[in-house]
Amino acid sequence: MAIKRIAVMTSGGDAPGMNAAVRAVVRSGTAKGLEVYGIRQAYTGLLNGDIERMTSRDVSGIIGEGGTILQTARNEEFKTDKGQKRGLRRLNEHGIEGMVVIGGDGSLRGALSLHRLGFPVIGAPGSIDNDISNTDMSIGVDTALNTILEALDRIRDTASSHERAFIIEVMGRKCGYLALMASLIGGAEKVMIPEEPFELGELVEIIEDAYIKGKNHCIFIIAEGAQPGTRETVDFLRKHDIGFEVRLTVLGHLQRGGRPTAFDRLLATRMGVHAVELLLEGVSGEMVCMAGSAITHTPIEEAVSKQRALNPRDLELAKILS
Ligand code: ADP
Ligand code: F6P
Repeated sequence: MAIKRIAVMTSGGDAPGMNAAVRAVVRSGTAKGLEVYGIRQAYTGLLNGDIERMTSRDVSGIIGEGGTILQTARNEEFKTDKGQKRGLRRLNEHGIEGMVVIGGDGSLRGALSLHRLGFPVIGAPGSIDNDISNTDMSIGVDTALNTILEALDRIRDTASSHERAFIIEVMGRKCGYLALMASLIGGAEKVMIPEEPFELGELVEIIEDAYIKGKNHCIFIIAEGAQPGTRETVDFLRKHDIGFEVRLTVLGHLQRGGRPTAFDRLLATRMGVHAVELLLEGVSGEMVCMAGSAITHTPIEEAVSKQRALNPRDLELAKILS
């Protein structure tokens, strides 16, 4: 029997484009004759029964808004078997027969647990980190990268004016994607990422070389998960006489906010629509994904089994072009 009532939630770290995905789920679901419900504050709202009907009107004007109108949360209880069963009970109480979970790898693990309990779920990758496997891009990555790029350009202006070396820390948890891409498109003397441990001594050589060559600044991009970490790197460089004064900028949560780019709006819209199509086809336990330029789907189990690997060619390019 065809399903009639579905729900949508955004979970984990917010990412620009999540609203566009919610809009696509609500509008395409409604167009197919479904009743669509929004779950506020992710698994926390699910456990509290914070679930409300959404109409096309409720999502009007949100396609270009950052953050998520459904809000998001992290919830420890949902990681337990008991929490998951309580969540399932809430969904049954509301007569919900399928759900779209938009979020990062943790959120997708939560979705997988519901699928394993027999509840129809489709995941959509939403995280600025681009650490989710089996998809070329996640919702929010492109916007975050554009934000980082703008910050880099601004920092270079002041770095050159004062002849300084800047360490710029970018987000990404244990994944170096944002840092690596930022170094390729924004230019940096060196990028430090979790995937490739580095020696602090190398940095002194790079800075001295830049100074001797007459460069008027030196930019290092460090991913927050890199080893050694940001603090160690800054302290180490300040102890050495490297020609340049050293300054640190941690971009932090400003990378998560802001209006989604055209790319993210389109990606989120296509993914949201495809997620609803899959639920209507009776598919469950899959994540919508981007493969090349196509929007398709892949088992959530595979997507969360490992961190998305960096492209070796990009790593090589970063070395050649720095
Ligand atoms: P993200 O989705 O951005 O990776 P988290 O890793 O914090 O963010 O996960 C978001 C939420 O997903 C967690 O707070 C928790 O409620 C749920 N979650 C994470 N891992 C699991 C798991 N193994 N099983 C069930 N739920 C999980
Ligand atoms: O997963 C997205 C992300 O922004 C990571 O890049 C970062 O490590 C983490 O979330 C920060 O989480 P919080 O918002 O809880 O500080």
